Order: sequence, then structure tokens, then C-alpha cells
Amino acid sequence: MDRIALEGGVPLKGDIPVSGAKNSAIKLMAASLLTSEPVRLTNMPRLADTRLLGRLLQRFGTQITETNGPDGHQETLLHTPEITSAFAPYDLVRQMRASFNVLGPLLARTGHAKVSLPGGCTIGARPVDLHLKALEALGAHIDMHEGYVFAQAPRGLKGAEIEFPFVSVGATEHALMAAALAHGTTVFKNAACEPEIVDLAECLNAMGAKISGAGTPTMVVEGVTSLKGTDWAVICDRIEAGTYALAGAAMPGSEVRLTKVRPELIGILLDKMREAGCEIETTADTVTIRRGQGRLKAVDITTEVYPGFATDLQAQFMALMTLAEGESTVRETIFENRFMHVPELGRLGANISVQHGGEAKVTGVEELRGAQVMATDLRASACLIIAGLAARGETVVNRVYHLDRGFENLEGKLSACGANIRRIKGNDPIEEE
Ligand code: UD1
Repeated sequence: MDRIALEGGVPLKGDIPVSGAKNSAIKLMAASLLTSEPVRLTNMPRLADTRLLGRLLQRFGTQITETNGPDGHQETLLHTPEITSAFAPYDLVRQMRASFNVLGPLLARTGHAKVSLPGGCTIGARPVDLHLKALEALGAHIDMHEGYVFAQAPRGLKGAEIEFPFVSVGATEHALMAAALAHGTTVFKNAACEPEIVDLAECLNAMGAKISGAGTPTMVVEGVTSLKGTDWAVICDRIEAGTYALAGAAMPGSEVRLTKVRPELIGILLDKMREAGCEIETTADTVTIRRGQGRLKAVDITTEVYPGFATDLQAQFMALMTLAEGESTVRETIFENRFMHVPELGRLGANISVQHGGEAKVTGVEELRGAQVMATDLRASACLIIAGLAARGETVVNRVYHLDRGFENLEGKLSACGANIRRIKGNDPIEEE
């Protein structure tokens, strides 16, 4: 297993280009199953998760061509003339939960699918009941045995009213893909409003779907009989952007400019960073973060659905707060078990106590000191990198395969800004998150 070693205490200075969003790219790849024509995705991040989903799609008959052009141009052409198998085995689905979302497109295109249940993961139980209820509402017949979902809709899916009891990004995206090819109209209530939903809906519309209201809680989908191919640029990764914004504030004297970004997608984070004492300037597609010499101030956050504070940035923000002046409260409301980074931050000298009910109190310390730490999930790994950048001495982050799932060329992007960071190659095979 690879490790990342970094020598902290160096202010970052430079530009960091933001990649296409992992969470959008993988849903767009799944959406390509809905058409027999080629879908060309540009601004594609090259990540362990996109590679893994690519392998799964190839099992269904998708031909995949990746092109890397000059100026960092990266595109993936996905073409599924025919679904040759509608079976997603446990071995592949368990490695990435989002691959469960192939169920809807396979079902909508072929009328049947057999997809493994994804199982739990380190940040919580993460059930898929809402996904299945939505597909049932669309007329699918669903059976579950031996860890697999068997879904059938031999005469096609039918439009329906689907009201989600609470907001779920995954279930909204999943049902949206299926509803695009259903007969009749589907109305979504309490749909997720995340920018990645808008990206998916707009891409589907470019493929010929009729979706309105994406980005609001009520979406209306008029089903069509077939979809066509399209060219689509993946939206920028707001979580990667937020992570580098926080990395750019980790050390006094830093000045980092994010490029290829949409600042409005991380508006709440930037407000919180300003409140903590960072100087932030934005243009239409850049964000500049400057950190002066003093300590930052403690600021409270509560994770919420978009446009609230993203759960995927909670751990990274906590890393910044470990060195702030005062006590900050971090409330996690989306996932029940998303504080595994706390003991690891403790190894660097942070003072954090996890309270009952998804709340952590972070009492800022004067200094963190480098240590060996263990990445426990994707975003927690990014948090340890940020803490390591601010810590005195060397930090070694173990199990960085988590990072590789969602951060493209992290060492390259940070070292271009002067960070002292390197990857230590290991030989162990990639494990599951
Ligand atoms: C969530 C985040 C998303 C983030 C992603 C990866 C929210 C609302 N969603 O999306 O921003 O990028 O994790 O970290 O912030 N749930 C059920 N039944 C279901 C589906 C979900 O009970 O069928 C629950 C989940 O356990 C969770 C909540 O609903 O507590 C929100 O989950 P959901 O938005 O679906 O999760 P992701 O799509 O993974």
C-alpha cells in the first residue's frame, strides 16, 4: 500500500487547477448506459473510482476510450451499443458504493438487472432503501436474495410521484436516470439540490431527456422512449476545490489560487473561512486564499444538504480548526459515524472530543507535530494531509488508496505550490474502503 510523507510547516504559494467532480463523473458514466449512442465526457478526472466504474461498465458491454490531450484535456468516450449483461457482481459493487447506481439505467434500458447490494461502509450504515422504493414507485418489481437486488420491469418503467422522506443525493440521481426513460411523467418531491444533480439532469437533457426543476426540491421528468449520445463537460469538483482552499489556509503566509473552479459552489465554506480570518477573493472561475501571520479564529460548522456545509468537507475543516484560537463545534448531521479522523488528528496533537449525537468539540492547540497516521476514508485522508501540512516535522499518511479514489494528482498539485510531499510506493493490493 502506498503512503504519503509530508514535511509540514511550509506556506503554500501557487495555483491549483480544480479537476472534474468525482461525484458527478461516476453518475454521468452510469447515465451513458441509457443510450446506444456514444457519450463523450470531457473534464474527466482520472481516479481509482472512475477506473473501477469503467471496469464494471465494460462487463455490461460498454466500450471505453480514454484520451488525454494537451493542456490537461482529459476525456472519456463511453459507448454501449447493446447491454450484453445486466449483472453487477458483489466484488465490484462493494468496492465503490456509487456503482450501485447502475441498477436504474440497466433496468430502464433492458427491463431487468441483477445488482449486488453495496453493503455498509466506514462512515455509516448507508442503506439503499430510498433507491429501491423509488424504482418500485416507477413500476419495477424488486426481489432481494443472497445479497443481490433482482429488478424487473419487462414492460418498461412508468412515471410516478416520488416523494423522498429526506434528502438523498444518491437516491435522487438514481431515480432520475430511471425516470428519464419511463413512460409518462414523474414528479420528484424533496429531491436533492446538489450541483452534481444539476450536472446529471443537464447532461440527460442534452441526451434528449425532458427534465425541469433540477437544483430545486421539485423536479418534473417527462419520460422519453430513447436517449441519444452527447458531449458533456463534467462540473468542477467542489469538494476538491474546498479541500485545496483549506490546504491553502493551513499555514500562515500562504497564498493559493484555485483555477477552473466555480466559487459559488463552495460559498458557505468560503464564508466560514473568512469568519476564521482568511482573506478570500473570487472571480468567475478562480478563488484566491490568503492567510496572514496570526492564528485563525475558531468557527462552528454544521453539515447539511446543499447549499449547506458539505459533509465531504467536514473532516478537512476540522483539521484547520485544530490550530485555531478558541473552541469550535463541528456537527455532523448527514452520516452517523463520520469522526474516524478524530483519533488520527489526536496523534498529531489535536485536542478534540467527540460528544454524543454527532458533535465534536475542537479546542485549538498552538502546534501540531508530525506523526504516522492512518487514512480511514476518502475525505478523512484529505483532512490528515491538511493537518500534516500545518504540523511541525514529518507526517506519514498510511493507506492512501483512499485518497486515490477521489483526488487526482494530489501530490503534484500540492508540490507545485511548494509543499514538501512525496509518495512512498508499496506493493500491497488495493483494499476495500
Ligand atoms: C452523501 C452526501 C453527498 C456526498 C456523498 C459522499 C448529502 C445529503 N449527501 O451522498 O453530498 O458527496 O455522501 O460522501 O450530504 N439514506 C438512507 N436510505 C437511502 C439513501 C440514503 O437512509 O436509500 C441516508 C444515508 O444513510 C444518509 C442520508 O440518507 O444518512 C443522505 O444520504 P445520501 O445523500 O443518499 O448519500 P450519498 O448519495 O452517498
